[in-house]
Amino acid sequence: MKKKLMFVFGTRPEAIKMVPVIMACQKQPDHLNPIIVVTGQHRQMLDQVLRLFAIKPKYDLEIMSDNQTLSDIVNRTLTGLTKIIEREKPDMLLVQGDTSTAFAAGLAAFYQKVHIGHVEAGLRTFDKWQPYPEEINRKLLTALADLHFAPTQTSVDNLVAEKVSRETIFLTGNSVIDALLMTAEMDYDLAKTGIQLDPTRKLVLVTCHRRENLGPPLENICHALLQLAQVHVASIEIVLPVHRNPQVRDVIKKLLGKVANIKLVEPLDYEPFVHLMKAAYIILTDSGGVQEEAPALGKPVLVMREKTERPEAVTAGTVKLVGADDKLIFSEANELLTDRAAYDRMSQAVNPYGDGLAAERIIRVILYRFGRANSKPAEFVARKTVKQ
Ligand code: UD1
Ligand code: UDP
Repeated sequence: MKKKLMFVFGTRPEAIKMVPVIMACQKQPDHLNPIIVVTGQHRQMLDQVLRLFAIKPKYDLEIMSDNQTLSDIVNRTLTGLTKIIEREKPDMLLVQGDTSTAFAAGLAAFYQKVHIGHVEAGLRTFDKWQPYPEEINRKLLTALADLHFAPTQTSVDNLVAEKVSRETIFLTGNSVIDALLMTAEMDYDLAKTGIQLDPTRKLVLVTCHRRENLGPPLENICHALLQLAQVHVASIEIVLPVHRNPQVRDVIKKLLGKVANIKLVEPLDYEPFVHLMKAAYIILTDSGGVQEEAPALGKPVLVMREKTERPEAVTAGTVKLVGADDKLIFSEANELLTDRAAYDRMSQAVNPYGDGLAAERIIRVILYRFGRANSKPAEFVARKTVKQ
């Protein structure tokens, strides 16, 4: 009898990080039957990823509404998913990360007494409000989960410190690196994006969307970008794929919509975005995933947050935290653009997040748990990456 493995996700980053795990599961047709459920917490940005990797969900809860609240997401996921779990009776349910979809799916599985595997477990800032609500979502998921797939040694240590049994934790690396390596090696012509890039200018790639940055912090970020664009008017080009959250869109369009060397574009498909990261000189972001991917491509990253749950690249020297302080964002970016030695220091670093084999490890551990493999895989060991 095949074991039913239910994958539940709803947003762009969960999809990117779950795709490699789904693909690894599909390579075990004798043992595993994947059931893919999307909540549709994101609509367009989720569908972009599903299309690129030809993933066809069996169920779609279609929960997204404009300016949805956290309780909307949790209520709709809990109600919709409970019926699906009752019908399908999965042997295990997998969730990824710390979104409200992931938390609500974990809760729904727990209420139905279904075992839960948590992909990307153990990340912590130890500040309940940063990032909000993700820090609490992932702590709640740790309480709910039976298997904890921790991406790094730091995340293993965080779980052990919370008295999670080491037997239930597996150090896997982050599956985002599996997705990144798979995508970065595809041939892609950036001209296809329709963004007119000037090869004589340095490309500054920016993303931002975090809830705790909405309002005045986002306005500060925009002021810093404006100053950067003006000071380096002849030598840089800022490209900013604007997140679909209206509270992000409206501010960015209003403050940065009419600046010659700032290009505001729609959220990009993963493939062009990865190739844009490869082409970038520096990256400014408040994203979780981009903080993991950019160091793997040897790109300096300024993280526009007060705290990060991904301290490894900060320690390695590729990532600097600059908060949402316009002066600090400007001065750090300005230094990278004008001081070659400072730039070189940040673009030569260790990649601590993965080796492209996280998904295989996760599926092997699950097979072992189901009694379908004789041994657990070797755990992930961080190694140096080659500068690109
Ligand atoms: C969510 C996650 C966050 C993750 C981020 C990735 C929660 C609480 N937050 O935040 O952890 O970092 O996704 O991007 O789970 N919208 C669209 N189309 C889309 C996506 C969003 O129109 O494809 C708009 C909708 O109006 C929606 C709003 O954006 O209501 C906010 O989306 P939501 O998923 O609630 O929050 P994010 O900030 O995207
Ligand atoms: N990304 C993308 N297109 C874009 C911007 C980002 O495909 O226009 C990818 C990026 O490479 C990363 C993921 O989306 O893998 C990060 O998503 P996001 O920043 O929305 O969420 P977070 O990682 O902060 O939860």
